Amino acid sequence: MDIRKMGPHEAPPMELLLLADPSVPVIEGYIERGECYIALIEREIVGVSVLLPTRPGTAELINIAVVEHLHGQGIGKRLVQHAIATAKSQGYKTLEIGTGNSSLHQLSLYQKCGFRIIGVDRDYFIRHYPEAIFENGLQCIDMIRLAQDLIADSVCLPQIKMNQE
Ligand code: COA
Repeated sequence: MDIRKMGPHEAPPMELLLLADPSVPVIEGYIERGECYIALIEREIVGVSVLLPTRPGTAELINIAVVEHLHGQGIGKRLVQHAIATAKSQGYKTLEIGTGNSSLHQLSLYQKCGFRIIGVDRDYFIRHYPEAIFENGLQCIDMIRLAQDLIADSVCLPQIKMNQE
């Protein structure tokens, strides 16, 4: 699998981007200001990520998605690791990401890739989405904000096993 930056004249894979964000105008807004990367297997686009500069020294991994029939095969993790390496190489100090309180799989993925929870934007999904969203039997209400310090290596704490993985 290859991951490469999209060219300025290539059409972004909107169907894929919509898996992570339901609003076309919102996606178009950040695609223009950010950098879009695509993961390819034999010339087929299988994943996408968007890196957006947000504040001085800080970027956000604002969208990440993998084609549904290839979920759970490590492509998402490769895209997150690629975004971390790219942001680091571009001199960012911090990489941020946000996800819903009900997005348990995504929360697991991001923490496995070194992100730590830094805050909660309470009622974000109530304020921004007209219809209630449910995942994993939970209503998606709050946005969990996570960040990773790109300067210090992330701390690997000794593990206390709470549950079977
Ligand atoms: N249930 C629970 N956790 C799972 C899982 C599942 N079915 N599949 C994967 N994971 C977790 C595991 O912790 C895995 O880590 P491991 O490799 O150590 O086991 C980790 O996620 C990485 O899995 P990976 O296979 O790389 O993820 P993926 O290729 O399926 O991509 C997404 C992950 C989130 C990008 C993908 O599911 C997706 O496109 N979802 C729809 C769009 C979306 O929600 N984007 C994020 C918005 S915040």
